[in-house]
Amino acid sequence: MVSIPSDDDPDGNTAGPHSSRRTLLMASAGALGVGVAASVLGPVAVFLGHPLRHDTTEGEGDFIAAGPPSMFGGDKPVKVDLYADRVDAWNRVLNVKVGSAWVLSQGGQLVALSTVCPHLGCGIDYDAAASKFYCACHKSWFSMDGAVESGPSPRGMDALEVKAEEQLVSIRFQRFKMGTKTQEPA
Ligand code: FES
Repeated sequence: MVSIPSDDDPDGNTAGPHSSRRTLLMASAGALGVGVAASVLGPVAVFLGHPLRHDTTEGEGDFIAAGPPSMFGGDKPVKVDLYADRVDAWNRVLNVKVGSAWVLSQGGQLVALSTVCPHLGCGIDYDAAASKFYCACHKSWFSMDGAVESGPSPRGMDALEVKAEEQLVSIRFQRFKMGTKTQEPA
């Protein structure tokens, strides 16, 4: 009978110097593979996990430039659209509209009221003839100071923080829960 020698040893012995070298080579190749995989997958895992570890939405909640003081302070409210850069998960969108506000002067102080209706979120307009704000969706009316006068809105218009500096008026835009009697951050 003819015996076939194994790859390990011409004499067919599996344990010996050749076998040890092969085991060592395989172990080295395995370790190298794990190292390469870790170096590639590590940064990918960090990248994909970023939105889970950080608040990745920006824009809302910051003071946003509304315009110079000369734009405001007349006897009519002025509507301003507020733009900011927005980061949402992995995307950065520049100069996106985050909301709008009505700005008016009350007792010499600038006041900003959100245009978002507290009832169901439609846009609030200004009726110059009536000198009132109104929401056309379900016919809520608001007085000049934002108090609800009639309609289904459960509260008055939401007040926003205003920072009036010498050269610039800024507004901190926020969204609030709809359908509640009190103004609560959304
Ligand atoms: S959404 Fe404004 S009254 Fe309903």
